[in-house]
Amino acid sequence: MRIQIGKFREGENRLVMKTILITGGAGFIGSHVVRRMVKNHPEYNILNLDLLTYAGNLENLRDVDQEPNYSFVRGDISDTEFVNHLFATHPIEGVIHLAAESHVDRSISDPASFIRTNIFGTFNLIHAAKEHWKGQVEGKRFYHISTDEVYGSLGTSGLFTETTAYDPKSPYSASKASSDHLVRAYGHTFHLPVVLSNCSNNYGPNQFPEKLIPLCIHNIRHNKPIPVYGKGENVRDWLYVGDHAAAIERIFHEGKSGETYNIGGNNEWTNIRLIRLLCDLMDSKLGRTPGSSQSLITFVKDRAGHDLRYAIDSSKIQTELGWKPSVDFEEGLARTVDWYLENTAWLENVASGAYEKYYEKQYLLR
Ligand code: NAD
Ligand code: TYD
Repeated sequence: MRIQIGKFREGENRLVMKTILITGGAGFIGSHVVRRMVKNHPEYNILNLDLLTYAGNLENLRDVDQEPNYSFVRGDISDTEFVNHLFATHPIEGVIHLAAESHVDRSISDPASFIRTNIFGTFNLIHAAKEHWKGQVEGKRFYHISTDEVYGSLGTSGLFTETTAYDPKSPYSASKASSDHLVRAYGHTFHLPVVLSNCSNNYGPNQFPEKLIPLCIHNIRHNKPIPVYGKGENVRDWLYVGDHAAAIERIFHEGKSGETYNIGGNNEWTNIRLIRLLCDLMDSKLGRTPGSSQSLITFVKDRAGHDLRYAIDSSKIQTELGWKPSVDFEEGLARTVDWYLENTAWLENVASGAYEKYYEKQYLLR
């Protein structure tokens, strides 16, 4: 059943435009979600709230930022006063919450920002929703986006289901697990209409080049070493970002309140196998001698506490909501490589940090 976000105004047979807050919309997944929602839902005012950290980049949204149903506000979800002010001044009826610190390696070197943004920031948002919706929850929805990493690490067999016990192993996954618990607790205690999803590793255009796939593309292009942690035997389940955005749109509208949906690509790869594939793909795209980029592969010290394997059972969303991945890995990877090779300015700009300085000047924090 489709959940109606917003209400019909008396005497009108058209749904009045509803304000949907999307947090983290300038980031990798968030920008794909914003684009999809802006294009598919002219009946919504899409309000993108993003702090524009190193990972947020408004260039990701150039093709939709002039649309009449899109607006942007720069702000910090961990700033309680700011979040309350935003809810007080905008008729927010739905929240799709993606803003987060998202990189495991950074959570090992700087856990504090993960606690602040992922836990306290999520608390601010869900608490503001509770306070401002004041029990008037019909037509409202708070959708929290999370990761499969909250379930911990699998051995060589088995899959994460929605009932797998939480067992986070990195400061990143622990902070996401904590935020998931908070959102569920608010749903339970205050009868807020919450919905959650936990997704596997995403890849695709606009991903910051600290994550494995864009980092490899960037380094191969520049003939720089490709750092492989440990022996490269860790396994990840990769999903094309557009398929995740489609799942988010589906869950936002059709997911059952109080429920969690696991999202995955059914597409497991050891890191080393994936990196070798990427090297070969890059060789062919760049006209290099087949096999030459593999010489860049460099085994380095393993990540501390490195989870061995993630793999998702996504049968619940497939059966109940009719979603399934649509982009196979070969096609998705080719599309991704093409995008990075066609958008070298984006990659160089992001990698150099120049865009950060630019945005510091362009957007002053409150
Ligand atoms: P990202 O790091 O690319 O983007 C995060 C965005 O949040 C950035 O635009 C950043 O500026 C913004 N942000 C960070 N701190 C903020 C704050 N305090 N206030 C406001 N905005 C802030 O992340 P991503 O990979 O797009 O991930 C988005 C969400 O999806 C996260 O919640 C992440 O946990 C989840 N997720 C990611 C993956 C993945 O493979 N990338 C998989 C499953 C779930
Ligand atoms: P990453 O993209 O950081 O995602 P996550 O840690 O959230 O799964 O890393 C994916 C896998 O690649 C993970 O097993 C760590 C590994 N990895 C490397 O081997 N080298 C690297 O330089 C990076 C960034 C990751």
